[in-house]
Amino acid sequence: MSGFDPLASFRLDGKVVVITGASSGLGVRFAQVVDGLGGIGVLAARRKERLDDLVGTLEHAEAVACDVGEAGANEALVEHALDRHGRVDVVVANAGIANAVPAAKESVDGYREVVDIDLVAPFALARAAYGPMRAQGSGSIVMVASVAGFRSMELLPQASYVAAKTGLIGLTRELGLQWARHGIRVNALCPGMFPTEMTTGVTDHAEVTEMFEAAVPMRRLGRTGELDGAVALLVSDASSYMTGQTLVVDGGVAC
Ligand SMILES: NC(=O)c1ccc[n+]([C@@H]2O[C@H](COP(=O)([O-])OP(=O)(O)OC[C@H]3O[C@@H](n4cnc5c(N)ncnc54)[C@H](OP(=O)(O)O)[C@@H]3O)[C@@H](O)[C@H]2O)c1
Repeated sequence: MSGFDPLASFRLDGKVVVITGASSGLGVRFAQVVDGLGGIGVLAARRKERLDDLVGTLEHAEAVACDVGEAGANEALVEHALDRHGRVDVVVANAGIANAVPAAKESVDGYREVVDIDLVAPFALARAAYGPMRAQGSGSIVMVASVAGFRSMELLPQASYVAAKTGLIGLTRELGLQWARHGIRVNALCPGMFPTEMTTGVTDHAEVTEMFEAAVPMRRLGRTGELDGAVALLVSDASSYMTGQTLVVDGGVAC
């Protein structure tokens, strides 16, 4: 078939993509993927100087200082994207924190903080994007959940994180159902363990890393770039008939 390009639907040319937690780790790479596909990135996090550095390396992106845990912050972020670009096509709720302690030692306040950032803030972001996306008749919302939403690990006790990410998968299913008729798709990406600031407690210690690798059927952690295809699929029209789903990229942990 001459002229047929099966990768064309992955392009994001001119699309406005809001990504939270773009100042480090997976969010940096997601911003690079979006930029490489031609999207206009609205990159948010608290550490604005890091976002500015990243923006300097990208074609079409801007940095927005934002604490997703503050009341009204997610709404203001979407409003900013609308003011600047007139539309919001994609939001990636990627900002997240973890608290790896045994449940008996986790304070209720600490638990609540994780749930606020990892579960309440993604809802606030999605809800803020709903209005403009409904008016446009299209939109893609990507929740960055975790394999922890499917499997707990004795090696990594983290009740708040597991509860929040499991809840995020349920929220994805529910919003996907409620908003499908409006052309708004909601899907979750569930990574296994990738070396980032969040996982230094594991990756800074060779013997601990080895224990975690042994628990992965592929016998290794994820590598930079190994979420590129999954995130490109979910943010783009390549997944235009897909909603309420979770995509697990974890070396086989959730098998
Ligand atoms: N790495 C993994 O193995 C793994 C596995 C499964 C799922 N995930 C998920 O992937 C996402 C990204 O994590 P990561 O591994 O890339 O960790 P990371 O390097 O620690 O990045 C976390 C990001 O979230 C942002 N963030 C945290 N609290 C925030 C707040 N209150 N307001 C705004 N931004 C906030 C941070 O930015 P600032 O500090 O600058 O605000 C940072 O950009 C998280 O949702 C995480 O749960 C990670």
